[in-house]
Amino acid sequence: MILPISTYGSPILRKKAEPVEEITPELLELANNMLETMYKANGVGLAAPQVGKSIRLVVIDLAKEDEEHRPIILFNPEVVPEEGENPVETYEEGCLSVPDVWANVSRPSRVRLTYTNEKGERVVLQNITGKFARCAQHEQDHLNGILFTDKISVADKAMNASKLKKMAKENK
Ligand code: NI
Repeated sequence: MILPISTYGSPILRKKAEPVEEITPELLELANNMLETMYKANGVGLAAPQVGKSIRLVVIDLAKEDEEHRPIILFNPEVVPEEGENPVETYEEGCLSVPDVWANVSRPSRVRLTYTNEKGERVVLQNITGKFARCAQHEQDHLNGILFTDKISVADKAMNASKLKKMAKENK
């Protein structure tokens, strides 16, 4: 089922999401609906608050368009920068909740991702880099009420100010 995506200005995008206590069939169905919604919108990641559920659930699929789907369902994900040398990387981001806005965001290049998978197993992935690290950090921010537009330069903010203002007004 395709779910409606909350966009910039919706209060739910600014709330800190609640931890998932138990993985129920309803939550697995929600995760699958989120994947379907994300694929339809050509996204690579989607967090539950973006579909109106303030819980710590994220879906990610970094497979390219011509590849088989490789969905990952993450309950209660935690992303932390790895210790040691970890240069900040700047890369252009967008977000299904902030349509038509793309801008550079700087983030640590190497992170550790811990999450509970759909079988209830806690998984630890160390030294994640590239697109996966980028996406994990972006989605983690969603669970804490943070949007990528909070992290863009003053110049990029100014350039997108009218779009953001318009969306915020519509979603008030
Ligand atoms: Ni996003």
